[in-house]
Amino acid sequence: MSAVEINPEGPNHVAIIMDGNGRWATQRGRPRLFGHQAGAKRVRQAVETCPSLGVKYLTIFAFSTENWKRTQSEIAGLMALFRRHIQREANYLHRLGTRVRFIGEREKLDIKLQKLMDYLEKLTENNDTTHLTVALNYGARDEVTRATKRLAVEVAEKRLRPEQVNTEVLASFLDTYMLPDPDLVIRTSGEARISNFLLWQSAYAEYEFIDTHWPDFTPDVFASVVNRFGGRDRRYGAVKA
Ligand code: IPE
Ligand code: IPE
Ligand code: MG
Repeated sequence: MSAVEINPEGPNHVAIIMDGNGRWATQRGRPRLFGHQAGAKRVRQAVETCPSLGVKYLTIFAFSTENWKRTQSEIAGLMALFRRHIQREANYLHRLGTRVRFIGEREKLDIKLQKLMDYLEKLTENNDTTHLTVALNYGARDEVTRATKRLAVEVAEKRLRPEQVNTEVLASFLDTYMLPDPDLVIRTSGEARISNFLLWQSAYAEYEFIDTHWPDFTPDVFASVVNRFGGRDRRYGAVKA
């Protein structure tokens, strides 16, 4: 495999809200699940493309805590797709040197899927080429609420004093404690909203809302969005000299 070329101007961590699968399928007169299947195939390509773009961390939104509001058949189809996809892709991702982790509330997922998630995390835990984080049953408000609950227990049991709580401490209780903050958040499908994704972590991220539906998100589209990022002037609240 070629060496990872880090572009110092480029984003180190890209997070993607993979949206538009349903509309992509509907436009083709096909069921929504057909769009999810086509979308799942794009994930592999996005991971493969990361090293050449200098992207070390890729985080993808696969299923939100609000997506349980969809029909039973769509939910069941998605859960089956996640299981199949992990089974099919595990060895390939491992060979690529991808480290895979999951964020979100796992306990509500079916046990077979949870086991596959654990298996993939364990299989790839020593890899370092690209860090892929999959947000599955993830919602930022749910994440902050779960973190706050655990933090409250630490305080109640006197392992932490209230005055010790600062932004770093709170961040260490989030699902993303092991990740740098995203530099760039991309949402496909033309919607310009965040839909409860990485609210805390994206405080200073740049956002790109693109019209392409997720199943049409080719490596060329990925490269063009990442290349636009190089021109952004990130000030973090300060005034540049
Ligand atoms: C994104 O595509 C995938 C998930 C949310 C699971 P959608 O299913 O939201 O597709 P649209 O937005 O209805 O087109
Ligand atoms: C966000 O997309 C969640 C994922 C991509 C998994 P949605 O399609 O669920 O978001 P809304 O409903 O348009 O806000
Ligand atoms: Mg959608």
